[in-house]
Amino acid sequence: MEVAMQCTAKNRVYRFNPSDTVILFLPSAKPAELISSIPAEFVFLKENADLSFFKGKQGEIALFPFARHPTIILCGIGEPKEADAESLRRAGAAAASVCRDKAVDTAHCVIPSVNGMEESAVLAALTEGFFLANYAFDRYKKKKEDNGKHPVRRLVAYTGVRDASLILNRITTICRNTLLCRDLVNETSEQSDAEGIAREALALKRLPKVSCRVYGRRELEKMKMGLLLAVNRGSGRPPRLVVLTYLGAGRGKPSIAIIGKGITFDAGGMNLKPTGHIEDMRTDMAGAAAALYAFKSAAELGLKKNIHAVLPLTENMLARDSYRPGDIYTAFNGMTVEIGNTDAEGRLILADALAYTEKTLKPSAIIDIATLTGACLVTFGEIAAGYVATDDSIASLLEEASRATGEWIWRLPLFKDYEENVKSDIADVCNVSPEKNAGTIMGGMFLKQFVTTSTWAHIDIAGTARHSKPRGYRPKHATGFGVRLLVDVIERWHPS
Ligand code: BES
Ligand code: MN
Ligand code: ZN
Repeated sequence: MEVAMQCTAKNRVYRFNPSDTVILFLPSAKPAELISSIPAEFVFLKENADLSFFKGKQGEIALFPFARHPTIILCGIGEPKEADAESLRRAGAAAASVCRDKAVDTAHCVIPSVNGMEESAVLAALTEGFFLANYAFDRYKKKKEDNGKHPVRRLVAYTGVRDASLILNRITTICRNTLLCRDLVNETSEQSDAEGIAREALALKRLPKVSCRVYGRRELEKMKMGLLLAVNRGSGRPPRLVVLTYLGAGRGKPSIAIIGKGITFDAGGMNLKPTGHIEDMRTDMAGAAAALYAFKSAAELGLKKNIHAVLPLTENMLARDSYRPGDIYTAFNGMTVEIGNTDAEGRLILADALAYTEKTLKPSAIIDIATLTGACLVTFGEIAAGYVATDDSIASLLEEASRATGEWIWRLPLFKDYEENVKSDIADVCNVSPEKNAGTIMGGMFLKQFVTTSTWAHIDIAGTARHSKPRGYRPKHATGFGVRLLVDVIERWHPS
């Protein structure tokens, strides 16, 4: 979707054509107040329509078609006292939804002022919610309009905000990349395989200050990425390790690294997943996709930060030569790993990627993001991601970014007492714990063994990366969770 704007002075009067569709966002209020908050140029609405039923509740919609005036859509934003970025995103999503149902091509949105909120924040949140809700993965559908949803082609925001174009550029860049992230995750494992994702990464070389290296099987063997190669053994498709670098701060300055789990299909391997658990496992590369598109957003926005994105990519398949429970492999850092369960593959490829990143890229902070454990879905549902961190400063950056973006995360502990359960009798560590409990923490504890010096956080998006039904501005299937959160973290991060 294209986003444009009409910037106007304080006592502005907008001019619309009768063929336009105009969206007015209204807070909940008594009928008289509500009507008086409608801008003067929409006097025809007050004169010709009975508005008494409209309460302005969050997401409430009313549509008024006129013959000689523009069509008006009223969209409620709820109690002004309770208004925040997240409630406005949801109001924006409700507006997008009705526009799509009514096949509106260009949506003219009049940005309201909301008590207690900066007008620029209102502009950003409404546009963001609208943009994120205006999505359909329909490239395999012959009849695109089967479900009655026509994406809106253009949004025009009417606002008096001074830096509106700057704000809109930031929002559209991040939202566009969030939708691209959803596309990559929703794509079939045939298309979004290791090579396909590496190709997307290589395309970023066209951006200023971006370089990209892609390592194949032979190179990974030379580099001794024993765990990534072990997971790849059952797959007919070669593995890839993508290393992207963006030098926005300049060479030699500290960097932040983002690592994303890129299992392009997780069959579970020898510990094969049963029916009911295997169907959506093409989305097990959602961490890699989030890291890739957060990196791309940061580079497109020209952030003055040095950023790496590291993506270990492979399928986890069942075949004659798959790796087996009881096998032992040597990780990039020389540690030996007993395979207790071939379905705990994400932590294996991430372990190699973490050790590699720390040793060769020497970032001052590392964040990994992964659809790592079913236990995380059990704990938080599809609403929040779990995370662990070795450092309170990175944790508070994540919490601030979470509050700002509405991508909810919640911290889990890394108490030393958990550590005994990653030990193995026959190797240095084992990829599953003998106790079946605390699955998400154990995933984090295992990864921690491969990080030594860096400030590090691990985000488990097993529940949030994919939705079983639409929720507000997030659709069913891939949500793009993590892109907005990570961009926000990178913006907040300042190397000490
Ligand atoms: N990719 C899965 C985790 C997952 C489950 C993501 C459900 C999204 C939805 C991961 O590789 C996995 O299979 N984890 C195992 C770990 C276990 C064997 C220790 C799990 O959660 O069962
Ligand atoms: Mn698995
Ligand atoms: Zn997995």
